[in-house]
Amino acid sequence: MKLSVIGCGYLGAVHAASMASIGHDVVGIDIDAGKIDDLSRGVAPFFEPGLTEILSEGIASGRLSFTTEIAAAAGAAVHFIGVGTPQQKDGYAADLTFVDEAIDALLPSLTPGDIVAGKSTVPVGTASMRAGRVEATGATLVWNPEFLREGWAVQDTIDPDRLVVGVPATSAGERAAEVLRKVYHPAVSKGTPFIVTDFATAELVKVAANAFLATKISFINAMAEIAEVTGADVTLLADAIGHDERIGRRFLGAGIGFGGGCLPKDIRAFSARAEELGRGESVNFLREMDTINLRRRERAVSLVVDALDGSVFGSSITVLGAAFKPHSDDIRDSPGLDVAVRLRGLGANVTVTDPAAVENARRVHPQLTYAQDRDTALRGADAVVLVTEWDEYRRQLSPDHAASLTRGRVIVDGRNALDPAAWRAAGWSYYGMGRP
Ligand code: UDX
Repeated sequence: MKLSVIGCGYLGAVHAASMASIGHDVVGIDIDAGKIDDLSRGVAPFFEPGLTEILSEGIASGRLSFTTEIAAAAGAAVHFIGVGTPQQKDGYAADLTFVDEAIDALLPSLTPGDIVAGKSTVPVGTASMRAGRVEATGATLVWNPEFLREGWAVQDTIDPDRLVVGVPATSAGERAAEVLRKVYHPAVSKGTPFIVTDFATAELVKVAANAFLATKISFINAMAEIAEVTGADVTLLADAIGHDERIGRRFLGAGIGFGGGCLPKDIRAFSARAEELGRGESVNFLREMDTINLRRRERAVSLVVDALDGSVFGSSITVLGAAFKPHSDDIRDSPGLDVAVRLRGLGANVTVTDPAAVENARRVHPQLTYAQDRDTALRGADAVVLVTEWDEYRRQLSPDHAASLTRGRVIVDGRNALDPAAWRAAGWSYYGMGRP
């Protein structure tokens, strides 16, 4: 099928390349000429495993192209909208400017029977308020939220857990759902659940999923806070409750908490939308989840301060990690970088390293010192703080090797990713999050 994808940021670029890789003819469109230039040459504008390969394959096969011309969307059967919905500058609500601009720009290229499929994460109510504008051209608007995780984005797009499509309750809506089923045929034919809903349910599935994940993380971090005053070990606690199938062990990793471009923004936008709907109290707990999450960063900082006898002023501290999670160069709302910035604010000399995110971090936080490689970063440190659990730190860094480089023997494990016994045996003072 011929498809267009409007917005070639994280979501759109991955979606365009993935749709070409399953056999569709795809044009990706974005107003950022620099991004389009990179993508047209097969260069991914961000780090995402597997993306470069499918970009190059798609371009070489002639099935994938990129342009700044919105008119190139004409003739596509389905137009995906994958633009950003950032947090508003003066509040928690989502800013829908890019969604509206994309729909308006697309309108002249639409012909009767076309489908406009929103993929961006939007507040519940967004699609129904925009359906009329699209329907006036004879096209149909549907909402098809995306659940991809950074670092697994290509796999999550080609082989998702489930597909959700919100459609209007009309025959055009029914037809649109069938067309989307064909678009995703390779996944659907393998048995991937394909769930057709109304607009509001589809929009809510996305924010509810993210709210649930954020809640799970903050729940275990709340247990970590209790563990800290009782001598319990939150990692054993998580293992034990995780054996209950109803609970499950995934997303019970206690540490410095969640960050990134989605979970923090989405739970705040959800709270703001619930307030607008007069149901703020239904999701009051999400504000608490946000607060617990931010408190864990302070906890990591105070562990370092206490370990260095009450002051970090003038100490050399190495921060292992900058990305908000491994397999990503994304530093948006990175808990680890926040910890680094706070330690710098207390007068420490902070050196940050990360296998993928140093350049991004340097642009946003030029006051920190950066090292391209781990061992250079560790040399002469009084204390080490692990904030992103890359394998390079978690599996490939032996405590003896680290001790041969650093001056001090203090390690704060902000992700509970290391083996405390091994580090202590090598002479380190090990501090975890919610561990004795
Ligand atoms: C998330 C959702 O997982 C995805 O389905 C949605 O489409 C977008 O938001 P992503 O932001 O890529 O994806 O990252 P995710 O893997 O969910 O991690 C989010 C944050 O939670 C990271 O900072 C991670 O370090 C943290 N986290 C995750 C924990 O602190 N503990 C855990 O147990 C799991």
